[in-house]
Amino acid sequence: MKKILIIGSLNIDMVIEVEHTPVVGETIMAQNMEMIPGGKGANQACAAGKLGADITILGAVGNDMYADIQMRSLSEANVDVSYIIRREKANTGLAVITVNKDGDNNIIVIAGTNATLSKEDIDNNVDLIKSCDIVIFQLEIPLNTVVYAAKIAKENNKTVILDPAPVPEKFPEELYQYVDIIKPNETELSMLTGVKDIDGNLETAVDIIRNKGVKDVIVTLGGNGVYISSEKNGSFIIPANKVDVVDTTAAGDAFTAAMAIVLAEGKDLKTAIEFANAVAAIVVTRKGAQFSIPELKEVLEYINLKEENG
Ligand code: RIB
Repeated sequence: MKKILIIGSLNIDMVIEVEHTPVVGETIMAQNMEMIPGGKGANQACAAGKLGADITILGAVGNDMYADIQMRSLSEANVDVSYIIRREKANTGLAVITVNKDGDNNIIVIAGTNATLSKEDIDNNVDLIKSCDIVIFQLEIPLNTVVYAAKIAKENNKTVILDPAPVPEKFPEELYQYVDIIKPNETELSMLTGVKDIDGNLETAVDIIRNKGVKDVIVTLGGNGVYISSEKNGSFIIPANKVDVVDTTAAGDAFTAAMAIVLAEGKDLKTAIEFANAVAAIVVTRKGAQFSIPELKEVLEYINLKEENG
């Protein structure tokens, strides 16, 4: 089985259910707050593990109870957690998330130990990068670390996948040349390219990124499906699965991991995205980041049922 490595963030999410997302200056009441393991990197790792991949995560946590909760969640999902670095005197990353009654969220991340993942940590783990086939990044760890590690991965002929979230104010242009597949959502695509009206200018925006050397651009469009522009496969849209949305948290993370797993099996991009779409469709029907991610068996049952119902 091909090996997938995720280099990225691990957070604990403080999830608050709200009737509506508060506007500037507004105070609103919520009933409770739940603590759920999250972080874009950790969510991707959790999804890959639950879906049966050979998956390792390289990242940093503190020496606190949040780290213990995260390690337990990932271990239970069969993720190799032995490369997670524990810092003695720092706090594990935290995210404060509001989820409104439509399932839409707002996320504020307090980077904590995610901000400590350094080039030196990458140098200490070059053999790990070399031992993997696919390396996945997101942008909740220092950007210079991402660029440095992606360059090493590319130089060693690994497939590099980037989930460009959150999009930084100044995106490191150098990164594009090391990336094979990028998976922005509409907002991220607009921020990356400066194209304001993505609905009317999707292809223009995608071409801007393709022209920077990225082979495959996968744009998730929520209820409108997924738009793919691929060097090998051309451009096409895969429609969304119709589901009742409860909470979209981690849907993008699970999508990226699921797509990577199918590509690791040597299957084509269309097959990979159809599978990823099914995984994301299940994730959005449940609350919480890692709690919402399904096991492989459930995804296969979902796909079979969908096929039976035409
Ligand atoms: O993508 C969802 C994740 O973003 C949350 O789990 C939160 O921790 C932030 O990293």
